[in-house]
Amino acid sequence: MVYLRILLPILLFLHLRVYSLALKQDLIISRPLEDVVPVPNQIYSRLHTYAHLLDIAYCIDGLRRIEEPFGCELDCSALFPHLQLVHQWYFEDSSCGYIASTNETLFDANSTENNGKYTIVVSIRGTRSVSDTMTDLNFDMTPFAVPGNAIPACGAQCKVHAGFHGYYKDATAMVQPYVMSELKKGGPDAQVLIVGHSMGGSVGLLMALHFLSIGVENIYLVTMGQPLVGNREFAEWADFALGSRYLLNLGPKNRKWLRVVHRNDIVTTIPRGSFLRRYEQFDNQIYLNVSAANAQPRAEQVVDCLLGDNRQCIAGDVLLPRLLSDYLLSHNTYFRHLGLCGIHSDKRDDQETRSF
Ligand SMILES: *[C@@H]1O[C@H](CO)[C@@H](O)[C@H](O)[C@H]1NC(C)=O
Ligand SMILES: *[C@@H]1O[C@H](CO)[C@@H](O)[C@H](O)[C@H]1NC(C)=O
Ligand SMILES: *[C@@H]1O[C@H](CO)[C@@H](O)[C@H](O)[C@H]1NC(C)=O
Repeated sequence: MVYLRILLPILLFLHLRVYSLALKQDLIISRPLEDVVPVPNQIYSRLHTYAHLLDIAYCIDGLRRIEEPFGCELDCSALFPHLQLVHQWYFEDSSCGYIASTNETLFDANSTENNGKYTIVVSIRGTRSVSDTMTDLNFDMTPFAVPGNAIPACGAQCKVHAGFHGYYKDATAMVQPYVMSELKKGGPDAQVLIVGHSMGGSVGLLMALHFLSIGVENIYLVTMGQPLVGNREFAEWADFALGSRYLLNLGPKNRKWLRVVHRNDIVTTIPRGSFLRRYEQFDNQIYLNVSAANAQPRAEQVVDCLLGDNRQCIAGDVLLPRLLSDYLLSHNTYFRHLGLCGIHSDKRDDQETRSF
């Protein structure tokens, strides 16, 4: 009996290791747990644009909308003169966002050269606070399966947060017809860029996996301040499907997902779950190594941590709910102070209650 008690966990552990090695055989890199590498400059400079695109989703609320062709308080038409609104939605109790498309590059407002690539932007935010969602839904997990088979299936044990799953279903049912028709318009090189902050990032992750599975291969996902989404089986599969452990570059063998995490952003480590239903951290972490209020990290302060349990990064942060306002500030500060669209700039304190 004693042997069994010792052996069983070891066997179980080995089984898990073999499984995860098999899953990750495609990796082009492996490195020590404590390593971090700087993010390439080209990608660093794009992060500001991604943050802006996700912030614009906060210009949609119960009263306001983005104006056609692409106008909003956050300099939408000045900085994205070529983007055209395709659709926007507001679901009072789950998510909201917009779809917009362009023939031009997103990264240079002054470019007039058609770069030959049609880009479809899907930007998502949550309408409820993360803590509301976590409390109401009690961390319940539900089985997750994607509709298509263009990528390997996640497996029988794959489970995700029941609340996020519901939001993803609603949002995808609404978004998919627009995205498919835009893809047709854009031709074979067309690409889909999904960006999401906080709960919108969780919805975006499930949506990206959904589109990948039905054969939309040119997909790129950027999440900032995104909570955890599912159990170990889900997290490993999502990392695998989206190439989390490819080195960051803009080449063809690129990572399809950037999961950006601000130092001390506690939201990126929850829900925790219980012993049998533990939520697993992803092996995808672009870490902003700056204090809560700093919206302008320098290039060397943005590092790729690769492994979810790298103690140099979020796993090593001391996340006591002691300075709650600090955590909220980290959560809302990704290359800009997010969630202020529609709020007069002298009422910045409001952002703590608004932006999830
Ligand atoms: C992009 O180009 C295609 C074909 O040239 C055109 O039909 C479409 O309207 C353009 N879309 C935008 C958003 O400019
Ligand atoms: C575009 O060009 C104008 C004039 O040359 C310049 O003032 C503006 O800052 C540029 N905008 C961007 C986003 O580079
Ligand atoms: C974060 O920055 C500090 C210096 O401010 C440095 O000591 C530490 O190694 C950095 N951590 C990472 C993960 O880059």
